[in-house]
Amino acid sequence: LNDGLALTPPMGWNSWNKFGGNIDQWKIMSMADAMVENGMKDAGYEYINIDDNWMAGTRDANGDLVPDPIRFPDGIKGVADYVHSKGLKLGIYSSNGTKTCMGLPASQGNEERDAAKFAEWGVDYLKYDFCYNERPTTYAPDIDKIVISDGKNIKTYEAESPDNTLVGDARIAGSKVGYIGNNSGELIFNKINTPAAGNYTLTIYYHNGDASRNLYVSVNGGTGEEYTLPSSGSWNTAATYPIQVALKQGENTIKFYNPEDGSKISAQQYGAMRDALEATERQIMFSICEWGANKPWLWGPSVGHLWRTTGDISDNWDSMTSILDQNAVLAQYAGPGHWNDPDMLEVGNGGMTDTEYRAHFSLWSMMAAPLIAGNDITAMTDATKEILLNKEVIAIDQDPAGIQGSKISEDGDHEVWVKPLANGDKAVLFFNRSQASTTMSLNISDLGLKKAPVYVVRDLWEHSESAATSVISAAVASHGAAMFKVHPGTPNMAQPATDLTITSDP
Ligand code: DGJ
Repeated sequence: LNDGLALTPPMGWNSWNKFGGNIDQWKIMSMADAMVENGMKDAGYEYINIDDNWMAGTRDANGDLVPDPIRFPDGIKGVADYVHSKGLKLGIYSSNGTKTCMGLPASQGNEERDAAKFAEWGVDYLKYDFCYNERPTTYAPDIDKIVISDGKNIKTYEAESPDNTLVGDARIAGSKVGYIGNNSGELIFNKINTPAAGNYTLTIYYHNGDASRNLYVSVNGGTGEEYTLPSSGSWNTAATYPIQVALKQGENTIKFYNPEDGSKISAQQYGAMRDALEATERQIMFSICEWGANKPWLWGPSVGHLWRTTGDISDNWDSMTSILDQNAVLAQYAGPGHWNDPDMLEVGNGGMTDTEYRAHFSLWSMMAAPLIAGNDITAMTDATKEILLNKEVIAIDQDPAGIQGSKISEDGDHEVWVKPLANGDKAVLFFNRSQASTTMSLNISDLGLKKAPVYVVRDLWEHSESAATSVISAAVASHGAAMFKVHPGTPNMAQPATDLTITSDP
C-alpha cells in the first residue's frame, strides 16, 4: 500500500513459530522487554506481534472480539500500552474466515467492527490469515446446445450428446458431461466447421433457474469474454442468448467456462479488511497471510503492505529452502510499501544449525523479506544473537531502494545472488546447498558496477574489508552463506598484488 508505511520490510517478533497458541500477556510483554534489552530494538526490530489464540472462544454481547480473560486480563489495550511504553509497536492477528486456524472467532463478515476495535486498542499491525475462509460459489448456466448461423446456413451442436460427430468433445475436467461446474470447469465444442472465415451468430440454448449466471466464452483459444445470461425462469425452461463470434475457415473450437477467479475473490475479501483498517484513525500495517494461494503478489500491492507467498515455514532445512525457491521467483513484485513475505524467521529455534540459520537470515535479507523473529528472544544463544543482530546484514534487507535480490547464477548446489542497493553498491551472496564445503567465486565484472581498478569488498559476516581487482572468492561451508557488499574503490586506492581470498564461514 502506498500510504507511507513499510517503506522498508517490517522487522519485529511474532509468537507463532516458537510458542504456537501457548501465549499470554506476560509472555508478550517479556518479549518487548527483551527486544529493548538485547539490542534488537536498536538494530531496527520494532513490532511485537501476537499470533493466533489471543481471543476468547466467543464474541461479546455486542458482537466484538474479546481477549481471553485468563491469559490477557489487561486486554489487548493493556498490552499495547505496555509495548508502546517501550518504544515498540504491537501487532495482532485475525483471519479472513469465520474462525482462526485454532478455531476461535475471526473477522470475515465483521471487518469494520474488528478493525475499529483493533484501532481503539492501539494496535499497529494486523496479520490476516486464511483459515475458515468462505468463498462465494459462482454458478454457470447449463448449456443444451449451441446453434451457429452465418445468416444463410444454420448448424446445431448438441452439448448433451458428446459422441455426436457434430459436437466433438464436450468435457469437464476430462470427463464427458453436459454442464459446466460450480466455480470451475469447462465445456468444449470442437470440430465446428465453417465454410469461410467471418462473423457468425452463436445462439446459446441454456437454463439457469431463477437467477442470472455468468458465462465465459473463448473462441479458438482466445481470451475469454464474460457474458451475463439472464434467468431462464425455472430449471425446466430453456432460454436462448445470442452472441457474435468471429470464426475461421475450417475447424473451430469454442470453449464455455466458469473460471474460479480466485485472485479476484481474495482481492475483494482482503480489500474489505483494508477498507475497514483505512476507515479507522490509526495507521495499521496490513499483512496478508493468504499463503500465496491466489497469487497475492498480483493484487497485494493495492491491498496490503506485505503478503505471504507460501505455506507455513517449519524449522528445518528442506522447508526453509523450499520456501526460498518459491519466493525467489517473485522478485519483480516487491518494493517499498509492498513486500513478498516468505514467512517468519526460524533462526534460533533449534531445528537447523547455526550455519543454516546464518544462510536463512542472509537469504531473507537478500530477498528484502520482512525480518520477523520467531524464536524466544528472552533466551538466545550468542550465535543466535550474532545472527539476528547483524546490523550489516539487516542494512541490506532494509536498503531504501527496496529491490528484492535474485540469484544471478547457479552451478548445481552453488548459487550467487545479487541485490542492487540504493547507493549503487551491490550486495552479493554465495550460497552453498551442498553437503560439502567449497570455494565459490564471482567475477566482479558480472556485477555491473562502475569500472574501477580496484573494488572494496566488505564481508558482512566477518565484518572486515578488503580490496579486489576482478574476482571475489570465499570458502563457503556446507549449507552456509557468505555475504558481501561491493563498491568501486577510489582511484588512488592501493591495488592488491593478487585478489584476496576472503574466508567466510569456514
Ligand atoms: C497459519 C499461518 O500461516 C501461520 O503463520 C499462523 O498464523 C497460523 N495459521 C496460526 O494458526
